[in-house]
Amino acid sequence: MRVAVTGATGMVGTQMAAAAIAHGHEVVAVTRDPGPPVPVTGGATVARRVAPLTDPDALRRAFAGCDAVVHCAAVYAFGAARAQEVGRVNVEGTTSVVHAAADAGLDRVVVTSSSVTRGSSLLPVARTEDDRLGDEPAPAYYASKVAQEEAALAAGRVHGIPVVLALPTVVLGGPFTRLAPSNAIVLRYLLDPTRSTFPGGCNVVDARDVGAGHVVLLERGEPGERYLLGGEDVTWRTLHTLVSELAGLPGPFAELPAASAWGIAAVTEWWASLTEQQPLSTRDEASTVGRHYWYSSAKAHELGYAARPAREAVAASLAWLAVSRDLPRWAREGLRLHPDVRSARALVPAPLGDAPEGADAPEPGAAGSAARGPAPGAAGSVRPRPRRSPPAWPRRPR
Ligand SMILES: NC(=O)c1ccc[n+]([C@@H]2O[C@H](COP(=O)([O-])OP(=O)(O)OC[C@H]3O[C@@H](n4cnc5c(N)ncnc54)[C@H](OP(=O)(O)O)[C@@H]3O)[C@@H](O)[C@H]2O)c1
Repeated sequence: MRVAVTGATGMVGTQMAAAAIAHGHEVVAVTRDPGPPVPVTGGATVARRVAPLTDPDALRRAFAGCDAVVHCAAVYAFGAARAQEVGRVNVEGTTSVVHAAADAGLDRVVVTSSSVTRGSSLLPVARTEDDRLGDEPAPAYYASKVAQEEAALAAGRVHGIPVVLALPTVVLGGPFTRLAPSNAIVLRYLLDPTRSTFPGGCNVVDARDVGAGHVVLLERGEPGERYLLGGEDVTWRTLHTLVSELAGLPGPFAELPAASAWGIAAVTEWWASLTEQQPLSTRDEASTVGRHYWYSSAKAHELGYAARPAREAVAASLAWLAVSRDLPRWAREGLRLHPDVRSARALVPAPLGDAPEGADAPEPGAAGSAARGPAPGAAGSVRPRPRRSPPAWPRRPR
């Protein structure tokens, strides 16, 4: 089928587009900005049509001739400064997309939501699609995804178009030109001189599996249903141990109480406001530490969804972070990457100079090789810093 993909310039959208092409579908990228055809992993590019999420007429024109739309575009960010934008884009944008898809005569819409809408537990138990976000701490982003799901299903009912909801867990890997809070989890640990870990945990999944999972739902998802797209449930200690092992760094050294994550985030936000950078951690995200964001993907597995182990997802995240501008030179030079990281992604060393973010180590045809910088104010991103000399490649393990 011919599939329109919003957010095809982002991590999930790029992997979704790549997986759709691999399954014999034709993809049209619907983006907010004009530009050349959008590169996806595997060396392909896809045609681009421009339509802001706020403009249902432009969206309807962009969807013309397609059979379905997969709506991956959203603001995935934490922190009070972006709370309003998160609500507006994620909820109103989704309503516009479903409305426009129905007007354009499409057969179905797959909306990318998030596992956080199914809540979290104090105990290490996996939650399912039948669970709900309760009265635990919920950043504005979580609330926006709950509202997004309701808006998508309601618009589907009103306009008579089937809507399927995809609920990825913490997505690691790439490609990315803008650091998402998920890969920021790995980066934060690399930059933490104390290499601390915390109680609780999350479910991590490789971006490639989430892309393929969207195709499963596109082809076989039941209208009106939610599907968790997760990988492996891990404690923070297990996740941080994996990062240490794959990055060749000692740790984790100590497990801090959950409240200390909030304190660290408060200091990080204060420092970021002084230096006019985006904070790498925020108090609202840190307020979730200590709980278990563990999920079962059994329902999606029944449709044929499969995911690789957490170790491979972490290796992919490190492979992208190791060449991203978000990783400072001092941290990059301290890495002793495990061979599994190098095999997670084709790394092609290239001089950096003042190259834009993502041009560091182009994977042929990957979005990471597109010549563009980070979006101003992007989640977790830091302002571009001039580079004096190309960074050294992280050394191989001794
Ligand atoms: N990453 C995760 O761990 C994770 C987990 C669960 C769910 N999700 C969901 O997965 C989806 C994609 O997330 P991601 O990780 O791929 O994020 P991402 O890499 O930041 O990509 C976001 C995409 O949305 C587009 N976008 C953002 N604001 C927009 C706006 N105002 N108008 C039009 N397009 C806009 C971006 O376009 P530009 O390139 O133009 O900025 C980009 O293509 C989101 O719905 C997110 O909530 C992500």
